Amino acid sequence: MRTQVGIIGAGPAGLALARMLHLQGISSVVIENRSRDYIENRIRAGLIEHWAADMLTDIGVGERMKREGLVHWGTNFAINGDIHRIDFKALLNKRITIYGQQEVVKDLVERRIADGGPLLFEVDGVSVHDLTTDRPKIQFAHEGQAIELECDFIAGCDGYHGITRPSFPDGILNVYERDYPFGWLGILAESPPPDHDLIYSYNDDGFALYTMRSPTLARLYLQCDHDEHVDAWPDARIWENLHKRLGGARKLQEGKILQKGVTAMRSFVVEPMQYGRLFLAGDSAHIVPPTGAKGMNLAFADVVMLSRALDGFYKKQRTDLIEGYSKACLKRVWNAQRFSWWMTQIMHRFPDETPFDRRRQISDLRYITSSEAAMKSLAEQYVGLPID
Ligand code: APR
Ligand code: PHB
Repeated sequence: MRTQVGIIGAGPAGLALARMLHLQGISSVVIENRSRDYIENRIRAGLIEHWAADMLTDIGVGERMKREGLVHWGTNFAINGDIHRIDFKALLNKRITIYGQQEVVKDLVERRIADGGPLLFEVDGVSVHDLTTDRPKIQFAHEGQAIELECDFIAGCDGYHGITRPSFPDGILNVYERDYPFGWLGILAESPPPDHDLIYSYNDDGFALYTMRSPTLARLYLQCDHDEHVDAWPDARIWENLHKRLGGARKLQEGKILQKGVTAMRSFVVEPMQYGRLFLAGDSAHIVPPTGAKGMNLAFADVVMLSRALDGFYKKQRTDLIEGYSKACLKRVWNAQRFSWWMTQIMHRFPDETPFDRRRQISDLRYITSSEAAMKSLAEQYVGLPID
């Protein structure tokens, strides 16, 4: 089997890259070790930056997002129940779109199939070879058959737990990471969102985020202990905390809890994001804590860079964009890392915090909800810096 670009992983990064390459007339094969049903139903964050929503429309997968996605021209920060709105429209004339990541994945899978594939699910035993030659290979098994896929390039879009990053030879990668001493309990509930916009709530009982998936479906997050088991959070405890951490300015209507799960909080980056003809994109190269929901947007930014670099290589025999891929991505990656870390550390309770830290957090929050310059700075990073 032979293709121009072998793509490992059918998450937002791998599937968006496949579509971009298709539009550029570059062939690719996408392989995924999970089932279609699994990847289409994995619940994750659902915030799409301004430029990323435009990009999805430009590549022909934005139709349902335009119909069903919820457009937000601002967001709220609550400081112990006192709610302040940051108006993206007035500050920047930009918006974010709330649309579940698994819906983006469904749209991309449908598009890939309409494009004629190949998109192979439930592959086994994936490994990569000959990375420093101009014919790198991917070996895997599919439906009981051993396959060797010969490529010009390999895109490692296989997420944090994938095999491509561990395939870099020893001593190449520099790893930068930070763990946070808490997690997020994510909840999906049949409950109308308490406000049209999101509410990021700083509270003495811990951080809470009130977001949504539709006008009748709330997506809610509560700061919880690191590695806490969901069994520690029966429904009554969840509602009690959601009410308490929202404060009195908005009312939350209780409804059936459809799903709950704990997410770990981590910042992680590897440098460089390439070795020979293997290029990492998305979660395989970096993880951000979910405060600000930059994960999927960063994955999209990487594959925009990668598709441009590959286009330059095939159409103009340029090698500079390919060689500069990692450097070009890492600039944005570190910006998003800094922003996600900053939002995380001003909003949460830390086990080793001092009263000084709490006062400092409140001061930061008051500043970003009152100074126009600070609001604008937050807004431009939150809605996503332009890709160029
Ligand atoms: N072979 C093939 N596929 C693999 C392998 C493997 N060995 N290992 C992992 N995968 C698949 C996973 O099953 C997953 O579907 O790679 C895909 C990676 O997708 P994501 O984890 O969604 O990562 P990415 O596409 O980079 O998207 C980043 O996803 O984790 C969220 O919050 C994160 O929003 C961000 C986004
Ligand atoms: C979500 O809607 O899932 C979401 C939104 C904003 C965040 C994190 C998650 O900061």
